[in-house]
Amino acid sequence: MEKIVVLDSGGQYCHLIARKVRELGVYAEIRPLGTRASRLRSCKGIIISGGPASVFEKSSPQPDPALFRTAAPILGICYGHQLMAQHLDGKVVPGRTREFGHAELTVQSKDSIFAGLHNHERIWMSHGDHVTALPPGFRTLGTTRDCGIAAMGDEARRYYGLQFHPEVTHTPRGVEILKNFLFQVCGCRGDWHPVDRVAQVEARIRRQVGARRVLFFLSGGVDSTVASTLTVRALGADRVHGIYVDTGFMRLGETREIRAGFPRLGFKDIEVFDARKRFFQALRGVTDPEAKRRIIGRLFVDIQDHILASRRYRSREWMLGQGTIYPDTIESGGTRDAALIKTHHNRVDRIQQLLAEKRVLEPLAQFYKDKVRELGRVISLPDEILRRHPFPGPGLAIRCICSDRPLSPEWDEAISAVAGAGGYGAFLLPLHSVGVQGDCRTYGKLTVLHGAPIRHAALEELTTRITNTFRHTNRVAVALRPRALDPARWSIRRATLTPRRIRLLQQVDDVVTRFLHEQFLYDLIWQCPVVLLPFSRQGGETVALRPISSVDGMTAEVVHIPPPQLSELADRLAEVEGIDAVLFDISNKPPSTIEWE
Ligand code: XMP
Repeated sequence: MEKIVVLDSGGQYCHLIARKVRELGVYAEIRPLGTRASRLRSCKGIIISGGPASVFEKSSPQPDPALFRTAAPILGICYGHQLMAQHLDGKVVPGRTREFGHAELTVQSKDSIFAGLHNHERIWMSHGDHVTALPPGFRTLGTTRDCGIAAMGDEARRYYGLQFHPEVTHTPRGVEILKNFLFQVCGCRGDWHPVDRVAQVEARIRRQVGARRVLFFLSGGVDSTVASTLTVRALGADRVHGIYVDTGFMRLGETREIRAGFPRLGFKDIEVFDARKRFFQALRGVTDPEAKRRIIGRLFVDIQDHILASRRYRSREWMLGQGTIYPDTIESGGTRDAALIKTHHNRVDRIQQLLAEKRVLEPLAQFYKDKVRELGRVISLPDEILRRHPFPGPGLAIRCICSDRPLSPEWDEAISAVAGAGGYGAFLLPLHSVGVQGDCRTYGKLTVLHGAPIRHAALEELTTRITNTFRHTNRVAVALRPRALDPARWSIRRATLTPRRIRLLQQVDDVVTRFLHEQFLYDLIWQCPVVLLPFSRQGGETVALRPISSVDGMTAEVVHIPPPQLSELADRLAEVEGIDAVLFDISNKPPSTIEWE
C-alpha cells in the first residue's frame, strides 16, 4: 500500500493534513518530526507540518539532518517550509509580528504543485518568521503582498515549501495543491479506500485474536459500535461479549435502546452493568466542573478495572476490544484535549498492561471518524447509529450546571452599552463558562442578551464584539423564553447533580432531539448540547440550546436555526414542568468551547 508520512512539528493541523491526504485516497501516517530518515524509506512522500515554534528557538523541534538527503519528495508547510529553507542553506528571518488570516497568493509557476490553479488564489497564513532567500536549486513559485517567498520548489529533488496552509478550508484550492503533490510529484495512484478494507480489517481481527474471545465496553457511540460489529462479523457472536456501563448520565431511553439494538446487529451476549447509584453517590455535593469530570473518569476506570480483574476475564483466553480511532493513538498538539480525555479510558494502567500482553484489539486504530462511518455504512449499520451526534464520555453530567452558592446576575455598563446599540438588554451570569484561546482554556462569565427577537446576523456581530472586547465574558446567549427578563428577580440558586435534575435534563434533551429530527434539522447539526442551569425566578431551571456545526469538534460555528422554528422549540421546552426560561447560545468556538463546562 502507498504511504505518505506526515512529520508532526506540533501544529494543530497535523491530523487535518493526514485526513485530507486519506480523503484523496492515499494512506497517511503521522510520525514525530525527529523520526530517523532511514525509517521513512518505504514511503511515497513526506509532508512536514506547521507548528507553534520558531526555527530560532533553541528548543525548536528538529528533523533528522539526513531527512533532506532522502530520495522521497518532501512538502514543507509553514514551519516545515522554514525548516527546509534553514537546513538547505536558504535564509529565514524572525518575524516581529505574526501574520494571521487571509492573503492573496500570486502564482508564479503553474506546473507541478500549482498545476490547475488560477493566477491569484486565496490562501490562509499563520506565521511569524519567513523565508527571505531561496536555498540553492530552488525557485519561487508564489508570492503574497507581505511574503516574497510564499511558495518555493526544487523540481529536481522534488522538494517544495509553502508558507501558507493548504490543508485548511480557508485555502479554497488547497486540496488541489495536496492532490498535485500526491499524484504529480509523488506519483501515487491512490489505493486507500475503506470500502475495500472491511475484508482486510476482518482478516486482521481473526489473525490477531486467534482462538481467543473479545470483551467490548459499549457506549452506543459510532466507534465502539462499528469496532464491535466488525468483530462479531469476523469471529461470530459466540466469541464476542459486550458490556454497557450505565452511569445514569446517558440520554433518555439509551439503556433500553442498547439492550434492544445490539442483538439486532448480531450480538448474542450483551450485559448492562447498572452503576447509576455509584455515580450519583460519588458526585454528591460536587459542583466544580473539573472535579465532576475527574470523579466520573476515575469511577468509570475503576468499574472497568473491576470487571477486567474478575475471574471470567482474567483468563488469557480473553482480549479487550476497544473502538480507539487514529487520533486517539497519537499524542499531538491539536488533539491534546481529546487524547487526554480518551487516555482516561483507553490507556489506563490495566489497559497498558493488557497491551503489553498483546491482549488489546483495536480494529479502527488506523481510521479517522469519517472513514469509521463509511465502514459502518459498508457493513450496513443502521443510519440512526451512524448519523448520531457525538456524545461526551461524562454525558449529561457536564451539561447539568451546578453552583455551590446562590449568585445574582451582574450589571455591566460597558457590555450593556454595546448590547443596547444592537437593540438588546444585557446582564452577566457569574458562571465559570469555559472558553478556548489558542491552545489554552479560559474561564469567563456568561453574557445574556434579552428583550428583542432573534436576528441572527445582528446577534453574530454583537457576540463577536462582546467576546473580543471584554475579557471577563467568553460566551453569549440570547433569551428565547421569556424574551425579556428582569435580572433583579432572577438568580442562580445552589444546585448539585441530583437524579431529579438529570431526569429533567434527559426530558428536555429528548424534546430537542425529537424536534431536530421532526424538522429535518438533525443532519444539519454536528452536535447540540442541551444545558440545564439553576437560573430561575422561583426554584425552576433554565435550558440552554447549543446547536453547532463542526468537522471534528476543534472549532465550531453556531447553526442559525430559523427564528420561527426556534420559537416553536422554545415553546415546547417552556411547557415542560420545572422549566422557567430558554436560552440560545450564540457563541462560536473559539472563543467558547462546545460544552459549557
Ligand atoms: P469542547 O467543550 O472542548 O468539546 O469544545 C469538544 C468536543 O469534545 C467533547 N467533550 C468531551 N468528550 N469527555 C469526552 O469524551 C469529555 O470530558 C469531554 N468534554 C468535551 C464535546 O462533546 C465536543 O464534541
